[in-house]
Amino acid sequence: MTDTAFWHPFAAMGAVRDAEFVITRGEDVWLWDDAGRRYLDATASLWNVNVGHGRAEITEAVTRQMRELATYQTFGDVTNRPARELTRRLAELAPVPGAKIFLVNGGGDAIDTAAKIAREYWARSGAPERTVLISREHAYHGTYGFGTSLAGMPPNRLAGPFVPDVVQVAYDDPTALEVELERLGPERVAAFFVEPVIGAGGVLPPPPGYIERVREICAQHGVLFVADSVICGFGRLGDWFGVDRFGIEPDLITFAKGVTSGYLPLGGVVAHERVAAPFWEAGAPPFRHGATYSGHPTACAAALANLDVMEHEGLLKRAGELEGSMYAALRTLGDHPLVSEVRGGTGVLGALEIDPERRAADAALPAKVAAAARERGVLIRPMISALAVSPPLTLTDEHLDLLTDAVRGALDAVA
Ligand SMILES: Cc1ncc(COP(=O)(O)O)c(C=O)c1O
Repeated sequence: MTDTAFWHPFAAMGAVRDAEFVITRGEDVWLWDDAGRRYLDATASLWNVNVGHGRAEITEAVTRQMRELATYQTFGDVTNRPARELTRRLAELAPVPGAKIFLVNGGGDAIDTAAKIAREYWARSGAPERTVLISREHAYHGTYGFGTSLAGMPPNRLAGPFVPDVVQVAYDDPTALEVELERLGPERVAAFFVEPVIGAGGVLPPPPGYIERVREICAQHGVLFVADSVICGFGRLGDWFGVDRFGIEPDLITFAKGVTSGYLPLGGVVAHERVAAPFWEAGAPPFRHGATYSGHPTACAAALANLDVMEHEGLLKRAGELEGSMYAALRTLGDHPLVSEVRGGTGVLGALEIDPERRAADAALPAKVAAAARERGVLIRPMISALAVSPPLTLTDEHLDLLTDAVRGALDAVA
């Protein structure tokens, strides 16, 4: 293959520049490459093509919208029908009262938006000293300014110095949050960022009771609880916003990915009415934040069509069923000598941890297993120490057999 000018995200370009993997077509859980080979997309692209590929309903909605009004900005008082309809619908689905929805382009800018809303909320509420943002070890919150500073994955913390007043706590221990709040003084803390299930950091479901307890601790100390549901929302955890199943009410929720199933870029922040109040009340000054494509009418039309598909096909319910069957299927690989742990069981998200001793000898093992699975017609995602599985929610039991057969073959080949 000829040298490319395309600088890929998260890529060692020296290796990739003349060895790209060209995807040409997608249909439901299947993808085809430029040589016509077919693959099972067991990662749903990057955890996000929740309704599967090639949905004519979304393409048609996007085409209709493009013919009518393809694009326009929404600064100040300007709006469009799809942005109004989508935010109304999301506000109704969100597990917070009086939800207001800020729209952006993806997860990374949803995180930066939430961080700025949190600090500005306190500045407008007479507590400008509340600036500290807390995140968790292993957290992934995108790669923009605030997200890089919030990152709990050391290799992703690059191009510092970082945003000041950002600290990390253990990912699985509510006491660690309490101790850190005590050390900092809770009156200095603006917000705590929580992925309901940590995704890119390794697929780490929360210990039982963790989410509920840290939500309580935040409430006790007046700290805003930000659920980063960029992966977990829109069916990935079997509910709309990735936190509904824990019965908690966040102050802010970031979302992206599954809201359009990736058909067009879109993300956003849900704000509890209490958090929105200092921005929405009469006489409040403008929040000087937003993007050219905030409320992009065609992206919003894609999201509306995607929500329709999810509702009409009962995909949240389907996700609830797949959660158990996929975890059971992955656990059959737990006896393999290369696999030290199988994680999953909370949502349609799973991971195979590669044996730490074997990985100490060869850090590229996850990438090698993923490459061997690709040769066997299945796409899984290599992470730092594990392999992630996060298929479209339309995956069936017959696909699960194909998945586990190919992954076992790949593990054998690499071992
Ligand atoms: C939890 C979480 N937050 C934020 C992001 C960033 O989203 P994006 O890649 O759309 O910028 C991601 C992306 O994977 C994510 O998993």
